[in-house]
Amino acid sequence: MRTIRNIQEMLNCSKKAHLQRKTIGFVPTMGALHEGHLTLIRQARKENDICIVSIFVNPVQFGLKEDFKQYPRPIKNDLNLCRKQGVDFIFLPKTNQMYPEGFKTFVTVEELSNQLCGKFRSGHFRGVTTVVLKLFNILQPDIVYFGAKDIQQAIIIKKMVKDLNVPVKIKIMPIIRQHNGLALSSRNLYLSKEERKDALVLSQALGAARNLINTGVKDTQKILSLMRRLINTKRTAKIDYISIVDSDTLKSIKVVVDNCLIVLAVWIGKTRLIDNAEVSFPQFYV
Ligand code: PAF
Repeated sequence: MRTIRNIQEMLNCSKKAHLQRKTIGFVPTMGALHEGHLTLIRQARKENDICIVSIFVNPVQFGLKEDFKQYPRPIKNDLNLCRKQGVDFIFLPKTNQMYPEGFKTFVTVEELSNQLCGKFRSGHFRGVTTVVLKLFNILQPDIVYFGAKDIQQAIIIKKMVKDLNVPVKIKIMPIIRQHNGLALSSRNLYLSKEERKDALVLSQALGAARNLINTGVKDTQKILSLMRRLINTKRTAKIDYISIVDSDTLKSIKVVVDNCLIVLAVWIGKTRLIDNAEVSFPQFYV
């Protein structure tokens, strides 16, 4: 496994791979890797000649009051995990290379970036799409792998790729959960023992929604009020939003339809967690 910190060096390696007619599978990450990331890496490894992982805690996608400074950076462990998965290249750029003085260009996917998490994290998705497009230009991947836990991010990136004719294929892989239902996230590391228990309420609320929908209830207000009631029983929980949305526009819908998304963001103590489920008829599972 080769670790590359320099943008030009990474670009040269990618170009060389393409000249040799090798396909590149890419998993962009901010590190603190867990089984969710490893699933993406394994898929990239399986489907491509070359597998590249980037680790870059992107300052531009964090708000001023957010957790950029405290975001976990267990780099040694991350490198070991990648080595074990047979990753070929790790791209570890420095912030001042990615955003040199005078950096002025940002990419925004309008409307989609202002919904859901975008309402609570102003500028977040503009930071994500900007860094992701930069990484695509530097790594020139054929297939890029994202986790469905960050479903809004994945939908926005798909839209950017379509609108800007970026020549990559985006694959969205299912959410990986602990046996108790908690969706894996690097931010779970912040949770105390009590909070870890309370955090289970996110997947439990999705499960309750699933059960109601499977009994034939389609009125989204009824489903959302049940979810809200359940979440509010937890002392440490505070809801940012819960919504049932169209999977293309991310706009709220009144009646549940096939392939719509149930999405939620909930603070557990000082940690903001997100989770979601896609509805699929006739029966769906979380
Ligand atoms: O999902 C993440 O870890 C980040 O948002 C990403 C896609 C690596 C961009 O910084």
